[in-house]
Amino acid sequence: MRIAVIAGDGIGKDVTAEAVKVLTAVGQKFGRTFELEHLPWGADHLLATGETLPPNGYDLLRGFDAIFIGALGDPRVPDNRHARDILLGTRFELDLYVNFRPVKLLDERLCPLKGRTPEDVDFVVFRENTEGVYVGVGGRFKPNTPDEVAIQEEVNTYKGVHRIVKQAFEYAAANRLTKVCMADKSNAMTQGHALWQRVFKELAPQYPGITATHYYIDALAMYMVLDPGQFEVIVTNNLFGDIITDLGATFQGGLGMAASGNIHPGRTSMFEPVHGSAPRFAGKNIANPIGAISSMALLLDTLGAQDESAAIEAAVLRAVKENQVTTDIGGSLGTREAGDFISRVILA
Ligand SMILES: NC(=O)c1ccc[n+]([C@@H]2O[C@H](COP(=O)([O-])OP(=O)(O)OC[C@H]3O[C@@H](n4cnc5c(N)ncnc54)[C@H](O)[C@@H]3O)[C@@H](O)[C@H]2O)c1
Repeated sequence: MRIAVIAGDGIGKDVTAEAVKVLTAVGQKFGRTFELEHLPWGADHLLATGETLPPNGYDLLRGFDAIFIGALGDPRVPDNRHARDILLGTRFELDLYVNFRPVKLLDERLCPLKGRTPEDVDFVVFRENTEGVYVGVGGRFKPNTPDEVAIQEEVNTYKGVHRIVKQAFEYAAANRLTKVCMADKSNAMTQGHALWQRVFKELAPQYPGITATHYYIDALAMYMVLDPGQFEVIVTNNLFGDIITDLGATFQGGLGMAASGNIHPGRTSMFEPVHGSAPRFAGKNIANPIGAISSMALLLDTLGAQDESAAIEAAVLRAVKENQVTTDIGGSLGTREAGDFISRVILA
């Protein structure tokens, strides 16, 4: 397997080192070779060379079996253009339309919701990843004046909505799940989200074993907190998915725990922890590496290495159960020591 690794900025570098460490351990354990190419793209590279990524950057990425990214964002680059090009650019250019974000509680003590157990918090979010308000369509008229007008359009296409909703149903069917919930704001966003309604009603009858429900996104946010156990698969747009998965991450113990895949089924896909570069934590050996390590497990699972992926997940679960984790989730280990523990469990 050829994997491109972009550690990126801030704690992206810290957690990527641990994800690679764990990948090496799993390779050793299962006798598998991973060919890693470390790409230096990030704020340092931009400041040194003036380029966010090389002109053939996206083509280069398409040549790998998968891509792993740590995190991007650096106060020295206030307009964040390298993050836009590398992260959003990869999602758009490689057409990675599924943002797959599992929300899985590993231990009751990590959940801020009263009395909730791992049985109550175990669902996945399918976030549309190539359309919505993040496409950058819009403009500013009379900027920096009292008359400024700022317009940011939301783009929804039949093709784009159809393929993400279909993936949510297909995932549920393939994993013997019986509930898919679609969240939109069709009561207020009566044009774009009417399309989501149309597509959902069109696809749901094709999956008779699956109960298809709908919530407005504000109600969904409330029900996620009140009764997370009712959800198995949630499908929603780019913006809403971005927001509710940060909420979901808090159910799991915080941003440091959450993993994600940016997937185009059958094509080169990209995997990354949900968190950002947390510049204040960078290089201090305090960032939680579990989100990154679990993203590596997702990468392996997507490439068909199920046993390797399961070995990582089991080791992460053991680290959490034995509190061999970083301080953000109640342990006393540093980033490196937490990665070492998970690697040792895999190799044992
Ligand atoms: N996918 C990405 O690369 C991505 C995602 C979000 C934000 N960003 C960028 O990251 C930079 C910082 O953004 P932010 O501060 O809003 O979000 P952030 O996710 O970097 O950090 C927010 C807070 O969450 C906690 N946290 C995050 N990851 C953690 C970890 N691994 N271990 C322990 N605690 C963790 C910390 O308390 C941190 O202060 C910005 O430049 C932003 O644009 C990048």
